[in-house]
Amino acid sequence: MRKQIAAANWKMNLTLKEGLKLINEILEAKIFMEPTQEAVFAVPFPYLIDTKNAIADTPNFYVAAQNCASEKQGAYTGETSAQMINSINIPYVIIGHSERREYYQETNEILAKKINLALANNLTPIFCCGESLKIRQSDKQNEYVQKQLGESLFHLSEEQISKTIIAYEPIWAIGTGLTASSEQAQEMHAHIRKILADKYGSVVAENISILYGGSVKAINAVDIFSQPDVDGGLVGGASLVANEFITIIKSLKKIQ
Ligand code: PGA
Repeated sequence: MRKQIAAANWKMNLTLKEGLKLINEILEAKIFMEPTQEAVFAVPFPYLIDTKNAIADTPNFYVAAQNCASEKQGAYTGETSAQMINSINIPYVIIGHSERREYYQETNEILAKKINLALANNLTPIFCCGESLKIRQSDKQNEYVQKQLGESLFHLSEEQISKTIIAYEPIWAIGTGLTASSEQAQEMHAHIRKILADKYGSVVAENISILYGGSVKAINAVDIFSQPDVDGGLVGGASLVANEFITIIKSLKKIQ
């Protein structure tokens, strides 16, 4: 049974005080979660431990790092390794967000190294993929996403890919207010699941959570999450507003 996940990606926003206030407002809502549902908070590195402590008593709430280094350890000033993240008991890490790909030149090859290190250190990677507007306009999005998955993930074993979460985030919908329609999201998610099934078999593919990201908000979450191959969302802007994110968590599908 695949998990339904509402993942907040705070990016480089909020002070620690503001972040903890936001978390507390969300906790105060006492959201009922099914066993198959999770809320994940990808917060800046300096807030990981405090955020983890704040949610410690809340079942189905988890914390994620937003990135990890592509090297194991050593003289890499300013980097944070997968092992370090695991050593403070953080279970998730986002890998390959389009902002990392675009502003920090992270290639599919570099991301393959990060994925390996994340899995080797017991972190669950949330692997992001998705096309630019130009690629979408030339109708090449399916091949483009297939290449991203192939080059960063398809060296993984069946056991490893089963531990990985995928987030489809069309770049043209991130932070722009433009959302892929629920049909566009479903179409790509079904395509991703088919690529996974062709490579790893349908049982494995059926059990991998595929999140949608790109201007998910309280107002469109139910529509997007109700699509059969959409297993929740990776949410930027709207995750910074307590009531928005509370509604987004409540919009996750209920799978018994
Ligand atoms: P957005 O960001 O929800 O602000 O569009 C999503 C993301 O970048 O993960």
